[in-house]
Amino acid sequence: MSHAEEHAGTRRDFLYYATAGAGAVAGGAAVWTLVDQMNPSADVKALSSIFVDVSGVEVGTQLTVKWRGKPVFIRRRTADEIAAARDVTMSDLIDAKAENANIAPEADASDENRALDEAGEWLVMMGVCTHLGCVPLGNASGDFGGWFCPCHGSHYDTSGRIRKGPAPRNLDVPVAAFVDATTIKLG
Ligand code: FES
Repeated sequence: MSHAEEHAGTRRDFLYYATAGAGAVAGGAAVWTLVDQMNPSADVKALSSIFVDVSGVEVGTQLTVKWRGKPVFIRRRTADEIAAARDVTMSDLIDAKAENANIAPEADASDENRALDEAGEWLVMMGVCTHLGCVPLGNASGDFGGWFCPCHGSHYDTSGRIRKGPAPRNLDVPVAAFVDATTIKLG
């Protein structure tokens, strides 16, 4: 392989990790290992958690990062997307469970329970269709203005909840939290 080809391969890999082109994955795992060497489980934590700099993510865009081998969608939603997500009647949902690793399993799939912050501007979800595992398309796709999985036609709303198609469950919400104003920790 020529040098140029190697370079191209590297570039494609990078684009896969940050498809929005806005924001970047911080080198959080490496830093964590250095500052937390005394903790015997530091290496385990470094493998399981990453820190994502979301300072470059504009309203109405999505950053996709790879975490534990899977894509994670970090969307900064518009006011209209938040309003649409919060205007939904729970009985209209196919899956009314939260699918949110941050809260109790018996909680419902209200947008307030799924969004990362109280205002609902940030939504963090696994980018894995709950039907057979394809990566859904974002950017206000599908009949409900959220995500659309073209593999077999599953439509997710602006909260990532399944509304139409064969997928049985809402997109999973991983353990995530803001550790400062512009950094989200996954895991
Ligand atoms: S994998 Fe998404 S609809 Fe089948």
